[in-house]
Amino acid sequence: MQKQWWHDSVVYQIYPRSFYDSNSDGIGDLKGVISKLDYLKLLGIDVIWLSPVYQSPMDDNGYDISDYCAIAQEFGTMEDMQELLDQANDRNIKVVMDLVVNHTSDEHPWFLEAQKSKDNPYRDYYIWKDEPPKKGDINYFESVFGGPAWEFDANTGQYFFHLFSKRQPDLNWENPKVAEEVHKMMNWWIDKGIGGFRLDVIDLIGKQIDKGISGNGPRLHPLLQQMNKQTFGDKALLTVGETWDATPEIAKLYSDPKRDELSMVFQFEHITLTWEHGDKWNPKALDLSALKRVLTKWQVELGNEGWNSLFWNNHDLPRIVSKFGDDKNYRVESAKMLATSLHMLKGTPYIYQGEEIGMTNVAFDTLDKYRDIETLNFYKVKTESGVSHEHMLAAIHENSRDNARTPMQWTCEDNAGFTQGTPWIDLNPNYNQINVADALNDTDSVFYHYQALIKLRKQYPVIVYGDFVPLFEDHPSLFAYVRQDSDHQLLIVSNFGGEECVVELPKQYCEKAVTTLLSNYTPRSTIGGSLMLLPYESFVVELS
Ligand code: NOJ
Repeated sequence: MQKQWWHDSVVYQIYPRSFYDSNSDGIGDLKGVISKLDYLKLLGIDVIWLSPVYQSPMDDNGYDISDYCAIAQEFGTMEDMQELLDQANDRNIKVVMDLVVNHTSDEHPWFLEAQKSKDNPYRDYYIWKDEPPKKGDINYFESVFGGPAWEFDANTGQYFFHLFSKRQPDLNWENPKVAEEVHKMMNWWIDKGIGGFRLDVIDLIGKQIDKGISGNGPRLHPLLQQMNKQTFGDKALLTVGETWDATPEIAKLYSDPKRDELSMVFQFEHITLTWEHGDKWNPKALDLSALKRVLTKWQVELGNEGWNSLFWNNHDLPRIVSKFGDDKNYRVESAKMLATSLHMLKGTPYIYQGEEIGMTNVAFDTLDKYRDIETLNFYKVKTESGVSHEHMLAAIHENSRDNARTPMQWTCEDNAGFTQGTPWIDLNPNYNQINVADALNDTDSVFYHYQALIKLRKQYPVIVYGDFVPLFEDHPSLFAYVRQDSDHQLLIVSNFGGEECVVELPKQYCEKAVTTLLSNYTPRSTIGGSLMLLPYESFVVELS
């Protein structure tokens, strides 16, 4: 596979609202991000993925855009944005913008125009129907945030389509003018010197509602090829598509370099394993063997015909140390183990703000402390359909998107040093024990573990391009694999369990001398035939 700069890059996701507030209004902002660039440089990341900062009524915290070429007042100004790009560039950090083009805000001028009359030139930028389809009809859809996907527009007497909130009308990608406008806007941002795009729910733009198709529609890949050609195709930008239902075969369609679409995709097969029947409000325990199967499948099947992204966390997901680790008894050990087991795989790793210090889920005791539209909508939908308050609160503690959105914990001072004002959402009360200042003072912290993982990726091309060989595939608590090329052989073993365990290492590996490259317990100088792993122990050794 031809080498690309994003192959050995590590991306850090910033959810600006919760990152750092520079002007004491309780909301994180661009100046706040700028002031933390040196911190990110110290961590060693190459790229920032910035969640939306565009002008927006903030119905979905900025994923509802009313002007793609303006910055929301609460985040700052376009000058601040340019300053961020320049200052990041000075530090060799690229900034990837979030591109939300499946839908706009209902306050976007296109939609305001479209609503004026049925023959308005912008009417066809959105999707309209005289009658909303009924349950059971092939073209009946529910909104991802709960409730029907069609909303009545009193002014024109028709219904418009929205797969997310009713304040996020879906754009009509069947209309070539939509693509034209979006390409123009993308080029405007490219000219500013951005590092690429993260394409929000991009799998939905080829939808064919009347055939009952929302994701992976027949027009999706032609539209992406056209976008590539008209915008970033010849510019060496990182483009990552959010593609919920991708299989390895589908991921190849997006990311095979020969097809001229995207650099890579986010797929969520490992995430939805703990959702009963695909329902996040019905959480279930992790089946480690299923997780191992999924991670292994993606490593093996993507081969050289596509590129994977590696992530445990983002602004929509619960904190991984609370989910797959033990945030009570082994928080530091399990956070490091999860980091190692992911970052040694093939693909581009993503770190979500706070993951690098082992931030945990929050459990607010009352619903009024939650801010997320999805959480609040579903609470209503589910309790109205008979689910108990207790069930929903427990599910929210497990899987609410607000788990990832409590403010970044910088210090043990008031509001974790995030703001001098009143934060827009409460903090996780554990910021006394978990914060950046303490992490930086402790050479054994989760932060320095992530820093070491990033350094390793730069030092060892085998981590970026080497073959992947799974080990102990049937073991109930170990996830282990070898990465190898003609120069190096690395053995990575992670215990996902809170108990010690002993395994017999295959002969070809235990006869070799080892150098420990990274470990969350005492480094090993030898590896015998029989290997004892401590709770959540994880290590990377080089075999020679
Ligand atoms: C996916 C984003 O990650 C999420 O935060 C948002 O609510 C939806 N897309 C709608 O834009």
